[in-house]
Amino acid sequence: MSGRAVDLSDNLAFDEGFPHATFTWLRDNDPVHWHDATPKSPDGEGFWVVSRYDDIMEVFRTPAIFSSNTGGERTGGGTTLKDERAAGKVLNYTDDPQHKTLRQLVNKGFTTRAMALLEDNLHERANLLIDSFPEGQSFDFVQAFARELPLQAICMILGVPQEDRAHLCDLIELGLEADSPNVVAVEYIKKIQEYAREIIAEKRRNPADDILSTIVHATLADEDNRQLTDEELVNFFILLFPAGAETTRNAFGYGLRTLVEHPEQLARLRDAPDLMRSAIEEIVRWTTPSIYKRRTVTQDIEFHGASLKAGDKLTIWEMSANRDDRIFEDPFTFDIARIPNRHIGFGFGAHICLGAALARLELKVGLAKLFERISDFEIEGPPQWVPNNRLLGLKRLPLRIRFKG
Ligand code: HEM
Repeated sequence: MSGRAVDLSDNLAFDEGFPHATFTWLRDNDPVHWHDATPKSPDGEGFWVVSRYDDIMEVFRTPAIFSSNTGGERTGGGTTLKDERAAGKVLNYTDDPQHKTLRQLVNKGFTTRAMALLEDNLHERANLLIDSFPEGQSFDFVQAFARELPLQAICMILGVPQEDRAHLCDLIELGLEADSPNVVAVEYIKKIQEYAREIIAEKRRNPADDILSTIVHATLADEDNRQLTDEELVNFFILLFPAGAETTRNAFGYGLRTLVEHPEQLARLRDAPDLMRSAIEEIVRWTTPSIYKRRTVTQDIEFHGASLKAGDKLTIWEMSANRDDRIFEDPFTFDIARIPNRHIGFGFGAHICLGAALARLELKVGLAKLFERISDFEIEGPPQWVPNNRLLGLKRLPLRIRFKG
């Protein structure tokens, strides 16, 4: 294989960012590639690597063959390389009809009204965070803003009290950075589960005006007024932190870095704030914080020249799709006015991101506030990446700023 030889199952291989050269070669030469097992490969197994946009869309569109739950003789499954025992039990690890039921229940929390209520709160939070930036001195933008705003948003959704928020986020971050085959290492998941159980019990007893309370009490009339079970709720709680907080944090950190590194694009956005909408889509395409998903093949099938077997693990790489020059003109050019922009940073199909509207809102509010209040951004040093093959993002972004006069 040309480009940097990369073990895609090794988190540490991503500590210099996404291996674009490898994937450009794969798209051109071996679009459905068999990745042999390495000492780092979860469950000691190899897996398929699908890199072209159109082929990935075909996988998203065909869940009966490419399952988010499991396939063949497997007992585990899910959407990460490692077989998860929670397959079939968590929203994103299920197929229809079970997925549809769970999604209908949690959708009840993510209404337009619920998002609108969050907006004012987000403005306030963003202002408070910016107030604390030390002018003229170096500080870490990831800690001070990129991690905080999305974390606050998820905590507002889940009704997590202010005093517990930073601790909860630390657990997620330590879990992500641990050298583990799981997206978040098991020892940290256990601590978050404990916390989730307590808060869910509290919402059952005393419903509040937050989305978690809505979801805890939501029922499905066409399913005997079924509610989510405690286990389903705990799983949902745990899913939201990596799914919602880490991804948006990474879009903010890497997105701001990219804008500062492209001063002509940043100036254009400042001059024409109505470009914010397309700028956000370009940031999500460029940063693609959730870089691959796994599916399990459910039947023997020929797929673009490859012979897939029931039970095989197959990975689809959205970051690669979002740089495919068969779809995007000059995909390695960052263009805040890019139209059309059919990126799949939020996935596609039945599992398309539940929080996409919230993520767009956070990015809109957060970036608009930063540009409204700050005149100069100066970045220090090269990028430092979080070593994780599933969630791509900057560990730190040392920044110096000047407020507007
Ligand atoms: C820039 C930020 C975000 C990105 C790039 C992103 C990306 C994605 C992607 C690619 C998927 C598809 C998973 C699959 O096909 O297996 C997904 C699903 C999901 N996302 Fe997001 N996400 C973001 C923000 C959020 C936020 C803010 C939330 C919640 C508040 C959220 C909650 C979820 C959930 C619950 C799912 C599973 C949906 C299902 O399986 O039906 N995400 N996200």
